[in-house]
Amino acid sequence: MKVRSRLTEAEKIIDIGLQFPILKQNINGNPLVYFDNGATTQKPLRVIEAISDYYKTSNSNIHRGVHTLSRRATEEFEQARKTIANYFQIKNDQQLIFTAGTTDSINMVAEGLAKNYLQEGDEIILSTYEHHSNILPWQIWAQENKGKLKVIPLLKDQTLDYGAIEGLISSKTKLIAITQVSNTLGLITDLAKIKALAKKHHLPILVDAAQSAPHMAIDVDKLEVDFFVCSAHKMYGPTGVGILYLSPKWLNELPLARTGGGTIKTVTFEKTDYVEGALRFEPGTPNIAGALGFAEAICFIKEFGMEEIAKHEHELVQYAQKLLKEIPEVIMYGENDNKAAVISFNVRGQHPFDVGTLLDKYGIAVRTGHHCTQPLMQCLNIQGTVRISFAVYNTLAEIDFFSEKLKKVIRMLG
Ligand SMILES: Cc1ncc(COP(=O)(O)O)c(C=O)c1O
Repeated sequence: MKVRSRLTEAEKIIDIGLQFPILKQNINGNPLVYFDNGATTQKPLRVIEAISDYYKTSNSNIHRGVHTLSRRATEEFEQARKTIANYFQIKNDQQLIFTAGTTDSINMVAEGLAKNYLQEGDEIILSTYEHHSNILPWQIWAQENKGKLKVIPLLKDQTLDYGAIEGLISSKTKLIAITQVSNTLGLITDLAKIKALAKKHHLPILVDAAQSAPHMAIDVDKLEVDFFVCSAHKMYGPTGVGILYLSPKWLNELPLARTGGGTIKTVTFEKTDYVEGALRFEPGTPNIAGALGFAEAICFIKEFGMEEIAKHEHELVQYAQKLLKEIPEVIMYGENDNKAAVISFNVRGQHPFDVGTLLDKYGIAVRTGHHCTQPLMQCLNIQGTVRISFAVYNTLAEIDFFSEKLKKVIRMLG
């Protein structure tokens, strides 16, 4: 693929056809339309090849070997850290820790803060949007420590009620942990408002970027938050790898909850001296091939340019919302001009599973259910939704096909 500042629709289709062989298949007799990118994106060939090349040419354990392969693998792994840090505009790559993904990163922060920062009876602020992965680690801590989770409510238009946050903050509040984009509604959190409140009350912020990093350019240093987490597999990279960014303060102060090989300078049975920087938080053999695959996915994104991807996805979202609005049986949630490439809807009187199952008969992959946001479902008073979510390879023509088949499905369900 060549670097282009602005791809025409035709160029995109040609390049993408070569890059994503998985998309060039028929499902149930129809060309696959993959609209489940919020769950995981497909992987370009270059990512698949980067992983397989690593195992073919460099596989070895990192950081402790003197032999050539070990040094090569270490170099490639540390280069991957630099590539990803550079993309997110994190100047000190030591602030970027490889984890198994967003869920793992949040658990690491929760386990670390539970060591000596969070005290019995403390409070944590979350939002109604949160994915279970950004609820349960805090809930477990709260249950074990008489703590409390306080939740930013929704307004009628399903955006967050920022005006309510001040009233949730008390002397016991210790953290705001919030998603940057709702994985169910695609709505974008106004982090500037959250940050202003956090600053006023001296509260650290954790940003769950699982659904924002795939759809928008993010300058993490400039964001000035304490913790920033995301997963590679939602950004054209492999599963089982992600990042945890720690601000300079927390890089020094986050207590170690997990330790093991690779994190130490010296160990005796009485005492251990730990290394500084990212390795301190990466015990055991990491997902080396995964980190390399993630870096390659970042190179793929950079070739297109995240601004271009965002523009393309914005066009898709606008078009899909317009077509869905024209179908009288459809109820859309979180409809908004300014949102990430995620749309949730229901068909009046029909179960989302039935709609999703019938769409699959036409080769259209959508996600149905609660999307790991049961508290949001409770707030909206629904069981689940049908969710379509886009990526760089989706097209307006696919949305036309989807809309036509959705109308058919509605008639079938009658
Ligand atoms: C907003 C959000 N947070 C966290 C997660 C969990 O990500 P992972 O399963 O990659 O750990 C997801 C996954 O869908 C998500 O959408």
